[in-house]
Amino acid sequence: MKNPNPTTRSSSSASALATLTECIAAQLAAVEKRFGEELTSDLACVNALVKHVSRFHGKMLRPMLVLLSGKACAGDLTDAHVTIATVVEMVHMATLVHDDVLDEAELRRKGATINHLRGNEAAVLLGDYLISHSYHLCSSLGSQFASRTIARTTNQVCEGELLQIDNRNNLDLSEETYLQIITRKTASLCATCCLLGATLSDASERHVAALETYGLALGVAFQIQDDILDIVGDAGTVGKTLGIDIEKQKMTLPVIHFMATAPQEHRLLLRSLIASRDADKIERIRNLILPSHSIDYARDRAKQLVEKARAAIAILPDTDARRVLDAMAEFVVTRPM
Ligand code: IPE
Ligand code: IPE
Ligand code: MG
Ligand code: MG
Repeated sequence: MKNPNPTTRSSSSASALATLTECIAAQLAAVEKRFGEELTSDLACVNALVKHVSRFHGKMLRPMLVLLSGKACAGDLTDAHVTIATVVEMVHMATLVHDDVLDEAELRRKGATINHLRGNEAAVLLGDYLISHSYHLCSSLGSQFASRTIARTTNQVCEGELLQIDNRNNLDLSEETYLQIITRKTASLCATCCLLGATLSDASERHVAALETYGLALGVAFQIQDDILDIVGDAGTVGKTLGIDIEKQKMTLPVIHFMATAPQEHRLLLRSLIASRDADKIERIRNLILPSHSIDYARDRAKQLVEKARAAIAILPDTDARRVLDAMAEFVVTRPM
């Protein structure tokens, strides 16, 4: 894959992903180009914000899911695949810009967040600009199905974020509700990427459903890994502000497991640490959770989901694209960023 900004894509993990997705490198480059072209405004103040978020590349996981799903169902990819891949990255970017407002995050993709740089007002409006442009671009396809699917998915993402803030401070959050939150806020978009990629390749209903199941399971596993990294990750490698889930009192799987299984004195300590304003509380919480089995438990749950994702696509023809989808499922739970 072309590396337009070596400083933001220098990690070995990112280059491993690029090697893995070599078979769709040309289309991924087309997505990046399209992304920049689509968002150009005649206003310098808008362009400055767009330029800032575009400078810092992410992993491009969602465009990869569209393109690989399409390729796994039909050999050749079309311009419509590139358009939808651009749409989903734009949706994703919009949700990140808004999520950083909700989480008061200062760092994203190794760069300053828009809210940190320009304040919440600019970040809310830039997120709106990105999301409305994604609908605009999607409607250019003339496929009501694609537009309706994208709109349904963005509703699910909002529902997930709303359910999450509704459960803030809920230290007794159940694993079931946690899974509902992350299924909607994260996995729904991954599932839609796979569904639309396959649909644009005129795949059979059976193959579309298999890829949708794959995307949903992969998306849940992906968010579990994200939540593990929020506790044990290295901020320099992950490239975003860590410890935010705890700071914002959003319970994630390792914490939920800890609250359900740790000795009472440890549970009480965790409760008081979460509520405290101590400067070193994240460090202390990490040191409390690390020796328990709660991180391993979350990792195991994520790995089970990876197996579920891989099993779902075993019915697809044995192609390079399917093998890359298999490897990507492994990647999401082993990635350090
Ligand atoms: C971050 O997603 C948001 C989550 C759903 C956890 P990614 O980790 O895919 O973000 P980028 O695009 O690579 O920055
Ligand atoms: C992911 O939520 C954002 C969306 C899915 C909308 P998080 O808050 O857990 O993600 P990061 O860690 O900030 O990327
Ligand atoms: Mg966040
Ligand atoms: Mg969040």
